[in-house]
Amino acid sequence: MIDLTWVEIDKNALSENIKTLRKIVGDETVLCPCVKGNAYGHGLILSSKVFLENGADWLGVNSLYEARKLREAGIKAPIYVLGYLGFDELEEAISMDLRIVIYNEETVLKLKEILKGRTFNVHIKVETGNNRQGVKISEILDFAKLCIDSGLTIEGLSTHFANIEDSTDHSFAFKQFDVFNEAINLLERNGITIKYKHSANSAGTLLFDEVKMNMVRPGIACYGMWPSNETFISSREKNRLTTLKRALTWKSKIAQIKNVDENEFIGYGLTYKTTRSSKIAIIPIGYYDGYDRGLNSPYVLINGKRAFVRGRICMNIIMVDVSDIPEAKIEDEVVLIGKSGDENISAELFAKWAGTINYEVTTRINERIARILL
Ligand SMILES: Cc1ncc(COP(=O)(O)O)c(C=O)c1O
Repeated sequence: MIDLTWVEIDKNALSENIKTLRKIVGDETVLCPCVKGNAYGHGLILSSKVFLENGADWLGVNSLYEARKLREAGIKAPIYVLGYLGFDELEEAISMDLRIVIYNEETVLKLKEILKGRTFNVHIKVETGNNRQGVKISEILDFAKLCIDSGLTIEGLSTHFANIEDSTDHSFAFKQFDVFNEAINLLERNGITIKYKHSANSAGTLLFDEVKMNMVRPGIACYGMWPSNETFISSREKNRLTTLKRALTWKSKIAQIKNVDENEFIGYGLTYKTTRSSKIAIIPIGYYDGYDRGLNSPYVLINGKRAFVRGRICMNIIMVDVSDIPEAKIEDEVVLIGKSGDENISAELFAKWAGTINYEVTTRINERIARILL
């Protein structure tokens, strides 16, 4: 324990998840775990190292900032940047030998200007129905020719599914996949062959062999979480009985214990009034740390027992009711997300309190908080 709050990462779980994904996709497919968002909150560098040690080929980041951190940590594996890079970031991206996703003519022209004879690997993003990044199929041939004429190497073609994890009906995903294949065929008919073709995120990788192509970009599954209930249900319906292992536990410790009389208020706005003489524990974390102020009836775990948050969540402090945990004392460990005894606060349960999804919950645990590999 090195701070008032810390995140423990189960190395074995991360290793097992990557090995499981490798088994699903086979040895011929590039396995590119997404480590953007501080590795979905699990710690960029430590997660990346564990993934690479256990069979990952590439790493997927969102930004130059993340790519730079990886290179500074001595990681030499190919890095694929999924997000937009500004014009003034391109030179550094080239010098770090990144591969970037590309979909803007303006970026191609800027690259041409600064490459000056050097080559650079790009992956064209095809617009297939997500309407986020992407080049429309009607424009893809001209775009690819512009890339080639500008000295770029089109190393890959990619797309991203809009509705593969939010439903057990995967028809929209397969419509997108058809458009993606049409784009590949169109380029290949015109003599443009592409080394890596990729569309699969976690749900695609877990559910369908046909979308894995020769590269996959799973994120959430690498950390042992399912993209959604729908994906889990679909996997069972298809008898694809993958087991994923959760890697993250978020902890803090009790900073103070106090007795509060019946009918007293707790916290800002007097939102909570005790209904009995209560024992309250003060925990030194708050919304600054990622413990969302909007949580609906959350609790923490102390000694395997639930202690409900009382009153408003503050920037750096929460107050929890330990009246029924008489043994609780200052400096005792508190589990905010994870297991304690027979109890478990999963990222999904936390997400339900927050009105969001597991992705957001773990990703928003403040980057400042230490990640400790166990
Ligand atoms: C382009 C792209 N590929 C892959 C992923 C990984 O998705 P998942 O975490 O659902 O596996 C993401 C995540 O947002 C993404 O934006």
